[in-house]
Amino acid sequence: MASSFYHLLFIFTLLISTTFAATTTRPKALFFTVSKDSSTLQYVVPITQRTPPKPVPTTLHLGGPFVWVDCDRAYVSSTYRPAQCNSASCTLANSISCGTCNAPPGPGCNNNTCGLSPENPITNTATIGELASDLVRVNSTNGSNPGPIIKVPNFLFSCGPTFLLKCLAKGVQGVIGLGRTKISPVSQFSSTFSFPKRFAICLASFTSDNGVIFFGDAPFQFYPPTDLNSLKYTPLITNPTAPTEYFVGVTAIKIDNITVPINKSLLSINKKGNGGTKLSTVNPYTLMETSIYKAVTTSFDSRLKQRFPQAKRVKAAAPFEVCYDSNTLTYTRVGVVVPDIQLVLQNDNVVWTMYSSNSMVTVDNARCLALVDGGKNPKTSIVMGGYQLEDNFMQFDLPKSRLGFRYLVYDMTRCSNFNFTSVA
Ligand SMILES: *[C@@H]1O[C@H](CO)[C@@H](O)[C@H](O)[C@H]1NC(C)=O
Ligand SMILES: *[C@@H]1O[C@H](CO)[C@@H](O)[C@H](O)[C@H]1NC(C)=O
Ligand SMILES: *[C@@H]1O[C@H](CO)[C@@H](O)[C@H](O)[C@H]1NC(C)=O
Ligand SMILES: *[C@@H]1O[C@H](CO)[C@@H](O)[C@H](O)[C@H]1NC(C)=O
Ligand SMILES: *[C@@H]1O[C@H](CO)[C@@H](O)[C@H](O)[C@H]1NC(C)=O
Ligand SMILES: *[C@@H]1O[C@H](CO)[C@@H](O)[C@H](O)[C@H]1NC(C)=O
Repeated sequence: MASSFYHLLFIFTLLISTTFAATTTRPKALFFTVSKDSSTLQYVVPITQRTPPKPVPTTLHLGGPFVWVDCDRAYVSSTYRPAQCNSASCTLANSISCGTCNAPPGPGCNNNTCGLSPENPITNTATIGELASDLVRVNSTNGSNPGPIIKVPNFLFSCGPTFLLKCLAKGVQGVIGLGRTKISPVSQFSSTFSFPKRFAICLASFTSDNGVIFFGDAPFQFYPPTDLNSLKYTPLITNPTAPTEYFVGVTAIKIDNITVPINKSLLSINKKGNGGTKLSTVNPYTLMETSIYKAVTTSFDSRLKQRFPQAKRVKAAAPFEVCYDSNTLTYTRVGVVVPDIQLVLQNDNVVWTMYSSNSMVTVDNARCLALVDGGKNPKTSIVMGGYQLEDNFMQFDLPKSRLGFRYLVYDMTRCSNFNFTSVA
């Protein structure tokens, strides 16, 4: 009895592994490149979808719920499949609607399909679109170089109409959301390839360079060899009113080790879901609630003048208020020298420090503090924007609900230093 059970199990395992090998070889990890659009400052991820394969640039929305693409314009694919109402895909996607379409049938318009609500995170508009699946092709990696292109069949996404692309970067045809849902690319890749539910983002700081987004686990490498195993970790916090988004627990802000006086109750998320600190790739610069913004900019300015009395304040350059004449600042090989802005996380030993490459931006002949007043009653007190995330390696570990992070510039590397050259 027992032996025939094991025999069956063996055949079964063999079957699974051969089926798997026939469709895909199991990669260690996958990656997308990510570039920065110089006019909108959006981060753009080219995904390769459809049959025949087509590059589909999408805007990165870190906390967005899924991938959606424009299906109204030139969507041609023999592997496109609308999701049938009440199918397992609809349940997985949490779809609550079941729809019909009166226009001619085609991608994005079919009867008896379930719907999702694709959103444009720049204009904050949403609409209804059908849930569908199609083949995508993704680069694999062993952690240090690109490996073979991997086919991911039946990748779930939502269709969106062309008008929903308003204000997205030129050429972009959709949005890639990496938020906490069962149909985000993170979840889909992890179930297709038995990866741990982990992804890492590294945004490059120059628009001419590519950064990288990794899925799965491998000892990721940037050149020169960098120890990405030693990261600092902080819990990822869930906001019940924005459950797909990633929040972290900032408990204090310091400038050069001196605590900035701020109203601490703004730092935690209250019962209504207000307050807290969110990570965002759709805001180009960090937004801070007005009282926090004033306290931080005032402390920064007085500390800078204390350390560098020759620094000359110049007129504001919207949206930035605190600007200095570039010629009156001090520089080293790594850039301009200014006070450190330290976001203290769960305790004094876990600090996210914004060094000058993340805190200062060049505007003509000035260097400005790259923070923006987020207004008096924003939903979220601090929204960490893209500029402040650049050249930081950030690993989102969903099962452990934690964020690992490391600033790469002091390791003499950058997010653009993944070796994108594949080995033949
Ligand atoms: C959906 O069904 C309606 C009503 O039967 C029909 O008028 C319409 O043409 C169908 N649409 C598609 C896309 O098949
Ligand atoms: C990845 O593959 C490249 C090329 O075969 C090799 O040089 C490198 O050492 C490999 N890296 C790891 C971490 O296995
Ligand atoms: C902040 O404190 C740390 C540890 O006490 C020290 O190494 C560092 O030099 C201080 N930084 C500044 C700018 O005072
Ligand atoms: C601190 O912020 C909370 C939440 O917005 C507010 O209710 C409270 O009045 C503020 N306290 C002070 C001293 O401003
Ligand atoms: C990138 O990888 C290729 C292939 O392994 C290697 O020849 C090249 O030297 C690497 N480049 C850098 C900068 O490490
Ligand atoms: C794979 O990555 C290379 C850059 O290393 C890129 O040029 C290529 O378009 C990518 N292919 C796919 C299918 O994403």
